[in-house]
Amino acid sequence: MVKKKFRYDVGILFISAVVLFVTGLGISQGTPQKKNPPFEIDRFIPVETCADCHSEIYEQWENSMHSLSHTDPIYNRVAKFLRQGLIDNDEIEEAESCVKCHTPVGFVSGFPTRLSDDLTKTPEIATRGIQCDYCHSATSVTKMYNNGLVLKPGHGEDDPGIKRGPRDDAQPDFHDAQYSKLHTESGICGTCHNVKHVVFGTDLETTYTEWENSPYNSPDPEKRVTCQGCHMYQRPGIPATGSTERPKNPGAATDYSDERPHIYTHYFVGANVAVPAMFGDEEKSNMARERLKNAATIDVDIDPADKKQIHVTVSNTGAGHSIPTGLGNLRQVWVEIIARDRGGKTTYEKGVLDAGSELPEDAWMFRTVLGDGKGNPVINIAKAREVLSDTRIKAGEQMRQTFDMGFVPRKGTTITARLLYRGAPQKLLKQIPGEPIEPQPVVEMAKAVRTF
Ligand code: HEC
Ligand code: HEC
Ligand code: HEC
Ligand code: HEC
Ligand code: HEC
Repeated sequence: MVKKKFRYDVGILFISAVVLFVTGLGISQGTPQKKNPPFEIDRFIPVETCADCHSEIYEQWENSMHSLSHTDPIYNRVAKFLRQGLIDNDEIEEAESCVKCHTPVGFVSGFPTRLSDDLTKTPEIATRGIQCDYCHSATSVTKMYNNGLVLKPGHGEDDPGIKRGPRDDAQPDFHDAQYSKLHTESGICGTCHNVKHVVFGTDLETTYTEWENSPYNSPDPEKRVTCQGCHMYQRPGIPATGSTERPKNPGAATDYSDERPHIYTHYFVGANVAVPAMFGDEEKSNMARERLKNAATIDVDIDPADKKQIHVTVSNTGAGHSIPTGLGNLRQVWVEIIARDRGGKTTYEKGVLDAGSELPEDAWMFRTVLGDGKGNPVINIAKAREVLSDTRIKAGEQMRQTFDMGFVPRKGTTITARLLYRGAPQKLLKQIPGEPIEPQPVVEMAKAVRTF
């Protein structure tokens, strides 16, 4: 079985190489794949129909980042901002490519195929983002990046066709069902959670690859944890990370079918605290906080030989990929250090947000920096011709840094080190024209306190 998996990966690599070569030549940019001609939009079944029977799963999915992938205001405003003012055709191709993942039902049925299409004309069903009938019509994956899902949808509600999932004994009445190994593996997630620049091939997001190289991708079934093994076990109060229990979720897949020992949950919670709350869903925001608080640990020590020095160690104990993952050049994860004397006066600080909610340049940050091909950092992914650095914390690993306070702290001094997360830098959000965007909420992932 392990061997077979290996061969499959090699196959993907080969296909990736060919696709890269072809996109490199500038042949297949932006146009819908010829192999995968557009489907009529009415072949897809609205989420509300699935909700009629799968009501619990629907409620979990609603206001998840998958359900909001098309409407998410942060995505929309950032995407339009990055598109502005580009003149290089290769950069424009990338800046137009977003809808392939963010509005996937629209993309495969012919509208929108580009970001600058009039998105207000998006068919109603496609506005519902990454939805039930999209994932459950998938049959295979052609490449492990930029959404290589191959679909076989049914023909609408009159002839719903086969919905593919993890069960070999499901006997639904409305649609047919089929066991699909693909749905039980990380690859169904990985094909969208690895993002490459469509022309330059630069790695923009590498969540799947990070997981693939992590201890969670173990051949030992006892130790192996897929994306679903964490993200489709979470529910309120149960973060289900690498450092917590991941208890089964007994229940039924519909309002009337038999109980099973575990039903996969569909909250798809990552780290996004801001966006579900914009849609009034505090529960999903809180679940993102719970996930972030069970992802990492931090330690702080004063050097016994040289008391001016403090050592800080952060460990990725809970994530199946780097911290942060996804948009590593946008997400901000950093260490804040504050020393206070006995009277509460601050005597040393590092990584403290300023009055404008901006992070000082010298903060210890975990991130990727993308470059323009000449070694200069760029924030616009459309211009990213290279990855300049990757200082994120890999799954199961730790990083350590020493800070020189410049003085020996007085007795009674308290040193507090916190690992903090927020979705995007204020420096970027501030530049986006139109109604000002509030600074993204800061979440404390871990905290350590030492008294000298
Ligand atoms: C009329 C009720 C009904 C509707 C509507 C419905 N389903 Fe189902 N579905 C079921 C039942 C019953 C099962 C079997 C549950 C079990 O065996 O635990 C099921 C099972 C499934 C499975 C598991 C299949 C497997 O083999 O693992 C998937 C996936 C699924 N449905 C997706 C969908 C999607 C997507 C929609 C909307 C397009 C939908 N269902 C609409 C009743 C329905
Ligand atoms: C061992 C548990 C575990 C596994 C396995 C796992 N994750 Fe995560 N995931 C987490 C935790 C904990 C967080 C919150 C910390 C963070 O953002 O990295 C998270 C966060 C995320 C985020 C939000 C990223 C951010 O920082 O904004 C995404 C997206 C994500 N995971 C996708 C995936 C995908 C796709 C896979 C499989 C390739 C996967 N995860 C596997 C635990 C896991
Ligand atoms: C991002 C893709 C994705 C979306 C969107 C999605 N699902 Fe699923 N679903 C999955 C995967 C993957 C599994 C199986 C997980 C596994 O086996 O590890 C699953 C499992 C299921 C099951 C079987 C549950 C069980 O444990 O028996 C049902 C039923 C189902 N989904 C229905 C739905 C419905 C209804 C919606 C929309 C409200 C939906 N899904 C949206 C990917 C998705
Ligand atoms: C069709 C492409 C696609 C597939 C397939 C897919 N995702 Fe996603 N996923 C996305 C996009 C796009 C977003 C971000 C939407 C946004 O932030 O606007 C996202 C968001 C997420 C988030 C929330 C990230 C955050 O910062 O909070 C998690 C967690 C996640 N996906 C996990 C999964 C898992 C697990 C699977 C496999 C079962 C999966 N995804 C399959 C495209 C996909
Ligand atoms: C191959 C699939 C894919 C494509 C294409 C894609 N994205 Fe995403 N996008 C994702 C995934 C997966 C996430 C979630 C990762 C995370 O949470 O860090 C995401 C999240 C985002 C977010 C974060 C939203 C938030 O609420 O914090 C922004 C912004 C974004 N994408 C912008 C873009 C832009 C702009 C484009 C086109 C230039 C684009 N994406 C193209 C998969 C994709």
